[in-house]
Amino acid sequence: MKRDEFLSTVSRGLILVCAGSCVVACSSGDDGGGIAPPVTPPPSSGTKVSVALSRMPNIGDQVTSNGVLFFRIAAGDSASSFIATESVCPHQGGALVWKATDNNIQCQLHFAEYDKTGAVLQGPQNSSGSTRMLKIYAKVIDGGNIEATVS
Ligand code: FES
Repeated sequence: MKRDEFLSTVSRGLILVCAGSCVVACSSGDDGGGIAPPVTPPPSSGTKVSVALSRMPNIGDQVTSNGVLFFRIAAGDSASSFIATESVCPHQGGALVWKATDNNIQCQLHFAEYDKTGAVLQGPQNSSGSTRMLKIYAKVIDGGNIEATVS
């Protein structure tokens, strides 16, 4: 094989490998924008979501279940000892968590912050757009569970 034939063959092979890699990378759904938002859709209005009280024995404990974020704010097993709200940030779908030490709900994607009533304390950081107040769900104690009704 002559030098020109060899280089031509190697070049074609290299182009095919690179093109294949680009197709795989581009079709993976990664937009290169960092942390991908969760894909859990919010539950529809009227949906009832419950979790066992035993999963949140201490003030500050939290559980996310079926699109609802529950967290304990006081001792005792009455409905007022807990908050139930959305688990997905209304801005762009980041996961919401209760930060007991900061006494607020924080988005893990762009770090918006909300208080226990759902009011916005801080909007999205390093991202365009704004967010809205979180929905706070009605809840009842049902046996050993707390049940929220999505609104
Ligand atoms: S997704 Fe929550 S602040 Fe952007």
